[in-house]
Amino acid sequence: MTDVHTGQVLSMIARMVCPMVALELGTFSGYGTLCLLEGLHQEGALHTVERNDELFALQDEFWSRHPRHSSIVRHHGMALDVLGKWPAEHPIDLVYVDADKQGVNGQLDALLPLMSKGGWMLFDNTWWNGTLADAVGPKPEALRTLNARLADDKRLNTVALPVGDGLTVVRKA
Ligand SMILES: C[S@@+](CC[C@H](N)C(=O)[O-])C[C@H]1O[C@@H](n2cnc3c(N)ncnc32)[C@H](O)[C@@H]1O
Repeated sequence: MTDVHTGQVLSMIARMVCPMVALELGTFSGYGTLCLLEGLHQEGALHTVERNDELFALQDEFWSRHPRHSSIVRHHGMALDVLGKWPAEHPIDLVYVDADKQGVNGQLDALLPLMSKGGWMLFDNTWWNGTLADAVGPKPEALRTLNARLADDKRLNTVALPVGDGLTVVRKA
């Protein structure tokens, strides 16, 4: 879940990037979606993927109050399934990865070829509440692997911001 401070940073980054094609993996209440919407290009589309359709009424209630809500494209399903069918002619300029943490490395693999040149990737929870170094379990293990991959990949520029639960900002060269 995106806290208010992280949400403000998402909005600022979206304004800086001004994406034509933006994507969020994991919608939940739709708060992060609204933050990203603040910076979307006037003719852009903001896609968001959520597996749990019981959340859709809540999202609709929040989104309907935003004047640009018609730019949101909601996908019902699993992140990897949506990425697997992503049209190559619509490269992604900005993605916010905030779905299941165990799936984050598979999501990175699927996203890399779909990103535009100079595209931006944002990963939430990369500090795991400050416990990442010692935490045990599949989620922190996946996040440790992710952080190491992002740091080592020469195609990427990466910085981890101490915002909220840790927000890692990545630029694909
Ligand atoms: C941390 S919440 C997302 C918070 C949201 N981005 C925000 O800004 O408030 C994670 C959401 O991702 C959804 N989710 C988890 N794994 C998913 C997957 N593999 N594909 C699609 N949705 C997923 C969950 O149902 C949940 O609503």
